[in-house]
Amino acid sequence: MESMIRDIKLAPSGHDKIEWVKNFMPVMAAVDEKFSKTKPFAGKKMVITLHLEAKTAYMAEIFKHAGAEVAITGSNPLSTQDDIAAALVEDGLHVFAWHGCSEEEYFTFIDKALDIQPDIIIDDGGDLVHMLHTKRRELLPHILGGSEETTTGVHRLRGLAKEGKLEFPMIAANDAYMKYLFDNRYGTGQSTWDGIMRTTNLVIAGKNVVISGYGWCGKGGAMRARGLGANVIITEVDPIKAIEAVFDGFRVMPMDEAAKIGDIFLTLTGDKDVIRKRHFQVMKNGAMMANSGHFDCEINIPELEQCSVSRRTVRNNIEEFRQPDGRKLYLLAEGRLVNLAAGDGHPAEIMDLSFGVQFFSALHLLQHGRELKPDVYLMPEEINTKIAEIKLQSLGVAIDELTAEQRAYLNLD
Ligand code: ADE
Repeated sequence: MESMIRDIKLAPSGHDKIEWVKNFMPVMAAVDEKFSKTKPFAGKKMVITLHLEAKTAYMAEIFKHAGAEVAITGSNPLSTQDDIAAALVEDGLHVFAWHGCSEEEYFTFIDKALDIQPDIIIDDGGDLVHMLHTKRRELLPHILGGSEETTTGVHRLRGLAKEGKLEFPMIAANDAYMKYLFDNRYGTGQSTWDGIMRTTNLVIAGKNVVISGYGWCGKGGAMRARGLGANVIITEVDPIKAIEAVFDGFRVMPMDEAAKIGDIFLTLTGDKDVIRKRHFQVMKNGAMMANSGHFDCEINIPELEQCSVSRRTVRNNIEEFRQPDGRKLYLLAEGRLVNLAAGDGHPAEIMDLSFGVQFFSALHLLQHGRELKPDVYLMPEEINTKIAEIKLQSLGVAIDELTAEQRAYLNLD
């Protein structure tokens, strides 16, 4: 199987990046140590569609060490790092991805990776599952199951399951406690601001930062914006999340109001058209917009283009949209995930947990996939505890144990 990547000569830099993150991923190191010996995935094939950067590469290599044949593609045209793709090819994986691929190339890559005829899949955002349920249906009977990395992908899966159209068991890795509580909150919280700050080279303190969506990702984005000294405003559609934001100490208002006063806008809702024409029309000169939701539809870019008199790149990953009245509005990273398109994704210590969830979900499907009917499942609860224990040990953090009397008091035995 031929790989499709930008340039194999980039591999040395990719290897360096992978070596770096390995130092900070003790859960994955423990997994590698154990399962490279027992090789539970021997004879099995996997297709992985994830943001193709160093942490992802480390996990893909661990699946290979554990016996699997692995084909991998990117889950977003701008998040693939070409040196990482090259390093993985050198390490014997099948790689179909390059940075800045067109929409057509993006889906061709997934299609090509599927030629491996996978037993197990890992998806991020739902495009791989979608292709299996449409163009590549002949592969369905072979599949034991898969897991999904992100909130948006889980929404799509639940929709498919509700219509009775999901054809194999999928684990909502995103919904595991050890994933969303850390990845969505602390991961997105940090990597988003890292992406925005390295792209703009501007100060965050004192700015009005408008965060749309107060789910786990929005909570993280808001918490870190506050830490950087911003005046944080939340927009929400869910009354409960809006109250949470109020009691977390943030101002909450509709986007129509926030649009007039925001300096930086950040969308993390998973929905489309969160910022649209009527908002662009009232924004301040110099307002900046970025997205950290999975798809590039949260800021309505066609409408932004339509109401602008010009569009041009003014700095790497920053486009200026000049308005008829002379105002300049800025869009970061084409409205794609700013933390991956203009950064390196979540910190390694965080992806250590998320990919621990992914590994053990795949192992669970390997062992039990045939017993599960097509549906969306949570990762078994005890795996959360196992991952947390490995992480705590690696951090040198000890915790208390219940006494026999305490266990009895809580009716635990
Ligand atoms: N790195 C790899 N996958 C990622 C994801 N889903 N979010 C952030 N960083 C990542």
